[in-house]
Amino acid sequence: MKTQNLKGMMLITVMFVTFFAHAQNRLIVNADQGNITINKHIYGHFAEHLGRCIYGGIWVGPDSDIPNEDGYRKDVMQALIDLEIPNLRWPGGCFADEYHWTDGIGDPADRPKMVNTHWGGVTEDNSFGTHEFMNFVEKIGTEPYITGNVGSGSVEEMSKWIEYINFDGVSPMADLRRKNGQDKPWGIKYWGVGNESWGCGGNMTPEYYANEYRRYATFARNYEGSKLYKIAGGANDWDLNWTDVLMKNIPLNMMDGLSLHYYTVTGTWENKGKATEFDKQEYLETLRKAARVDELLTKHSTIMDKYDPNKRVGIILDEWGTWFQVEPGTNPGFLYQQNTMRDAQVAAISLNIFNKHAARLHMANLAQTVNVLQAVILTNETDMILTPTYHVFDLYKPHKDATLLSHDLKSEEVSFGKEKMESLHVSTSKSEDGTVNISIANINPDKKIDLDVVLRGIDAKSVTAQFITAPAVNSHNTFENKNVVKKAEFKDFKLNKDNLKIAVPANSVMMVRVK
Ligand code: AHR
Repeated sequence: MKTQNLKGMMLITVMFVTFFAHAQNRLIVNADQGNITINKHIYGHFAEHLGRCIYGGIWVGPDSDIPNEDGYRKDVMQALIDLEIPNLRWPGGCFADEYHWTDGIGDPADRPKMVNTHWGGVTEDNSFGTHEFMNFVEKIGTEPYITGNVGSGSVEEMSKWIEYINFDGVSPMADLRRKNGQDKPWGIKYWGVGNESWGCGGNMTPEYYANEYRRYATFARNYEGSKLYKIAGGANDWDLNWTDVLMKNIPLNMMDGLSLHYYTVTGTWENKGKATEFDKQEYLETLRKAARVDELLTKHSTIMDKYDPNKRVGIILDEWGTWFQVEPGTNPGFLYQQNTMRDAQVAAISLNIFNKHAARLHMANLAQTVNVLQAVILTNETDMILTPTYHVFDLYKPHKDATLLSHDLKSEEVSFGKEKMESLHVSTSKSEDGTVNISIANINPDKKIDLDVVLRGIDAKSVTAQFITAPAVNSHNTFENKNVVKKAEFKDFKLNKDNLKIAVPANSVMMVRVK
């Protein structure tokens, strides 16, 4: 950007800031400034062989009484189609590093069984394997992201899996795929080389993993018609050294993405607190911890800048979300938790921050899709509910592949006990057709906030908005009452030329669209 333009923009912003200084809550949107695309893959998801995510949540098998299409639950499938999810990561998670893909192909009756040692020690019958996954992503119109086994697998095993999925010619693996009913290769792009190799994926040092990565990535071949986007197994939240060592030791042309995991845990890992019962101080503590992903992304990105100043290698935040105690009476290894307005706020705050880091953040995957951790869908035997988090992803759809816009936000604070935070959390973008998208979260559980929005660089003619809100921060949907939290039209705003006044309800998340 030219220096003069920059100075001009700063001057205009200062003028607006001065003019609206009296407003306690005001937002200036620079609708004519932006050159970074928010990758739609930031709105990605993750489904592991864990608890009832795959089995019972996505897959019930073709012989089930539960309405299904070729074995996939119809209700869940439709909800994911409606959500337009851009990608789905599979088969883990920790499970990925003990999964042997050849056990999950061929006649299901002949597939060997295994013990899912990480998640409840249950028997995995391998009835959901490569074909079932690839057919599923095709049905729901999303891109597959597979994580291969480094921890207990081999270079040969991973290399052959890629050949099986992507090779169109004559070869042992491509022929085997054809024998199993899939003529054409699927052509996968996103490929992870191990998961949490610092922990459940093998307890490796970063130096050791970096060497392993180079070996595995060498034999992760690009076949004609497809080019892999190779993702190195990255750090656990604040382990900056892991990122540094990998960036230093892996040649940049050997990796496209570097993963990162960040879970929002209230309290401690030993005492994580309950999903639906918490006080207001705990509520704010959860949101404050979620918001720390901003600092986390900045720190990892700064290290990556040293080696990759052009930001070619993307951060792939392929596990994020809330992690609470499991619901009483459920298997502790299944990680089943309810999902409240607090989770919706975590999602809203996180996604706003992810957008801001779009220059470096190429993908993020919420953990996990169905029945596990911060799920967007919960199921029982026959029924399904959409969680508040589902509705946030639904509201935020316009941000996908939109141009990130700069903004300036002034917000009042909310405090409970020792915790204090800004009440409003915002992200702004511009869609291809010129529509400006403003996502707003008001985390104050009790107070409606009058927000003054200054729309710079757009000749605003009309506004539409949708939102979610609920009586309490722990409001949630149940099988008895599915619509306690649901998306609705929002009308409490007034547009006057370039000034938009919005009465942002307490405990709400909204998407405002200006044309
Ligand atoms: O998402 C649950 C687990 O959390 C994953 O399997 C693992 O990668 C992480 O520790």
